[in-house]
Amino acid sequence: MTILDASQQDAGRQASRHDADNHGAGQHGADAETAFDSLLDHVRAEFDTTFTWDYERSRDGLNRLYEKAKRSQWNVSDDLDWSIDVDPERTIRLQVEATGVPAGMPARSLLDVKGSPVASWDDDKWVEFAVQAQSASLSQFLHGEQGALLCTARLVEAVPWIDAKYYAATQVVDEARHVEVFSQYLDQKLGGIKYPVNTHLGSLLDGIITDSRWDMTYLGMQIMVEGLALAAFGFMQQTTEEPLLKKLLRYVMSDEARHVAFGVLSLQEVYQELTVPELRDRQEFAFEAALQMRDRFMRQEVWERIGVDVKDMVKFTLAMPDELRIFQKMLFSKIVPNCKKLGLLDAGDGWLRDRFTDIGVIEFENWVDTVDEYDDLDEVAKDRALAEG
Ligand SMILES: [Fe+2]
Ligand SMILES: [Fe+2]
Repeated sequence: MTILDASQQDAGRQASRHDADNHGAGQHGADAETAFDSLLDHVRAEFDTTFTWDYERSRDGLNRLYEKAKRSQWNVSDDLDWSIDVDPERTIRLQVEATGVPAGMPARSLLDVKGSPVASWDDDKWVEFAVQAQSASLSQFLHGEQGALLCTARLVEAVPWIDAKYYAATQVVDEARHVEVFSQYLDQKLGGIKYPVNTHLGSLLDGIITDSRWDMTYLGMQIMVEGLALAAFGFMQQTTEEPLLKKLLRYVMSDEARHVAFGVLSLQEVYQELTVPELRDRQEFAFEAALQMRDRFMRQEVWERIGVDVKDMVKFTLAMPDELRIFQKMLFSKIVPNCKKLGLLDAGDGWLRDRFTDIGVIEFENWVDTVDEYDDLDEVAKDRALAEG
């Protein structure tokens, strides 16, 4: 089943997720404004659970990663300073001061566009928008982390190699920690989880988790979703001046870099055995995932919450000149080099290279891939070495 099939079959459920933003019946945590139409969401999937009786550890790359994962565990309760006071509006104003970029960019550039619904907005309104946008981003990070938790648990069961089962088990713990850290930050510092899962992200996660082929779960989660997360976390980590958020993102990114490397190392081996038509299936799956992720960054849920016409804003956002859509493009800066390393860009007739060229992200193909950088991104190990002198 492809991602699009999954989203079409499940259109009713996706619609109800979207509506939840307006008609909240449930609550999460301590926040009364939180809007979820149901606090449980069941997704049916059929796949093989695989025992292996071959306990030989033959994959050096995965074994190194596993050793690193065991040593670089951290604890949300002990390693972060939760006494830090967070004022969301002040966080945005400090960021503006530090970066020199006005609040609400790149959406703010629509101020100058004739007929734009936000043409009359003043600076305070843009700060309000930026506060909501950050809350929405962190909520989507949280929901994506839960998707990663469930997908990785699936990988432990499905992958046939003992080395990969070991590593994936460490990732389950990492992802639980990520769900915990984003949930706690939203609850304690931003007044609650106010945004349900975005329609596009929900549909993407459903597609990944319902596919019966375990290598598709790897591709969708470890390469596409995690690759995008690594880029998005990096962007927020570099621009925020809020010390608790900055440190938690540094630590989450240390883990995420290993996760993407896990995907690349595993799929490199799998793809060597696949035929051209089978690889084409993977190319199409990757591209559909890329489109879903691109569309999730139109900020629909924030426009809706602020009371601006969503369709209008999507139309204006799509019409933005290329240089203003640099953030959306940067989200692909990890995905494209990793797809290249896997041979997916040029497999067969280079179908994926052509598609990535069409959506304007092929320029990242020679950026560093994550197998080469996960060690550098291990900020947990760096902090420990520093503390030990
Ligand atoms: Fe994660
Ligand atoms: Fe992850």
